[in-house]
Amino acid sequence: MAKSSSRFVCQNCGSVYLRWAGKCDACGEWNTIVEEEAPSLESPKATGGKGGRHITFSPLSGAPETMFRLKTGSAELDRVTGGGLVQGSVLLVGGDPGIGKSTLLLQTVAHLSQIVNHKGKPVRCVYISGEESVGQVQLRAQRLGVEGSSVDLASATSVRDIVASLDAAGETPDVVVIDSIQTMFVDTFDSAPGSVGQVRAAANELIRLAKRKGFVLFLVGHVTKEGAIAGPRVLEHMVDTVLYFEGDRGHYFRILRAVKNRFGATDEIGVFEMTDRGLAEVPNPSSLFLAERRGNVSGSCVYAGIEGSRPILVEVQALIAPSAVGTPRRAVVGWEAARLSMILAVLESRCGVSFLDKDVYLNIAGGLRITEPAADLAVATALLSALSTIPAPADMVVFGEIGLSGETRAVAQTDLRLKEAVKLGFAKALIPPKRGKQKQTLPSTLKVTEVGNLQGVVSMFELR
Ligand code: TYD
Ligand code: MG
Repeated sequence: MAKSSSRFVCQNCGSVYLRWAGKCDACGEWNTIVEEEAPSLESPKATGGKGGRHITFSPLSGAPETMFRLKTGSAELDRVTGGGLVQGSVLLVGGDPGIGKSTLLLQTVAHLSQIVNHKGKPVRCVYISGEESVGQVQLRAQRLGVEGSSVDLASATSVRDIVASLDAAGETPDVVVIDSIQTMFVDTFDSAPGSVGQVRAAANELIRLAKRKGFVLFLVGHVTKEGAIAGPRVLEHMVDTVLYFEGDRGHYFRILRAVKNRFGATDEIGVFEMTDRGLAEVPNPSSLFLAERRGNVSGSCVYAGIEGSRPILVEVQALIAPSAVGTPRRAVVGWEAARLSMILAVLESRCGVSFLDKDVYLNIAGGLRITEPAADLAVATALLSALSTIPAPADMVVFGEIGLSGETRAVAQTDLRLKEAVKLGFAKALIPPKRGKQKQTLPSTLKVTEVGNLQGVVSMFELR
């Protein structure tokens, strides 16, 4: 028997050290290394076990098992998971505290318990909360109006107890929710709940059980202030699907984003609206994001973006104000600050439009976070419109990437973006010229203007 020893684990990245140190060499964080009991990973020889069994190999051409997908009853959640929940899959739902994870999952299991599974039996759902008492969850269910659903509820934090209960004879559940993985602990492990070691051990036990029993496992994970779930990368590679629930506290809608999915596309998003009776689906997000837009204001421009497989139109707003201090301010909400600096630099150096003595504020209206470089041209248009105080046409959508020499570059899915624009009643589009052999069928009702470089946009606003 190997003697039990301790090791030192970085709570941020999970790197293991033999000795304590103030700084983690792997991720560069300070004061994140904590002593933990080493898991017993002895070789079979040391434990007196036998050698492994032979595994059987199969050709690539075999008939694949058909994966049964459980439809969740929510089109948004189905889209994000790639068409429903795959039997035996493990999903990690991450997000800031208070963003609505528990609400989303309670609503989901309440929905699921009303439908039948592939065996024709009602879907059996188990919801285990480590954060709230049974009474608190019941109260929430009442508020959401789902107290009539047959969901098995428990308040527990010991993984041993949970595994024993789920493993017990009787009907296996189809869907299990663990809210949250940071509150769970494995009693053979000596560190505090929420530490990297505990989170990993607890998740491991639960995932093993889910795979063996074939139920869908939802793990709720809190996001640390750095934006990663419980020590980054620790859980993400153990699960099949990673979903982030995000949104701005000040706004009433929430976005569920797939950042990893073994059973579907990533970057897919589901949009929900927060109401006093829980989360409601938003089947047409563009109209929600544009709902409060006022036409004919300078500094505003509609960007036709793509999130996952879905086109989404949002308003990009810019404000330029005279700067009172030596270093002018650049504030961005919903977009990358570095990208804004780049566009300002291109406007300055290539087009001679200066923002040097001006504060620049940029906002993606509604609270959506955009990551696509295709928003460059829309941002530049909003900035130029704000500077010139000439409003961009209210019925125009804009998209396209901008290169460092001021050229505009074609982006993917032009057709899809333009189709969405037509659907929402836009009449004009400002886009980059199409790439070489790129096929493009432009909607006939749309007046499309192609601009090859940023100078073209600058002259639209009579700045030079
Ligand atoms: P909760 O689901 O508890 O967040 P999390 O589990 O991510 O910490 O939701 C936080 C609060 O917001 C809770 O008091 C309920 C409220 N809420 C609504 O009133 N309506 C909604 O649609 C949602 C999602 C939350
Ligand atoms: Mg919660």
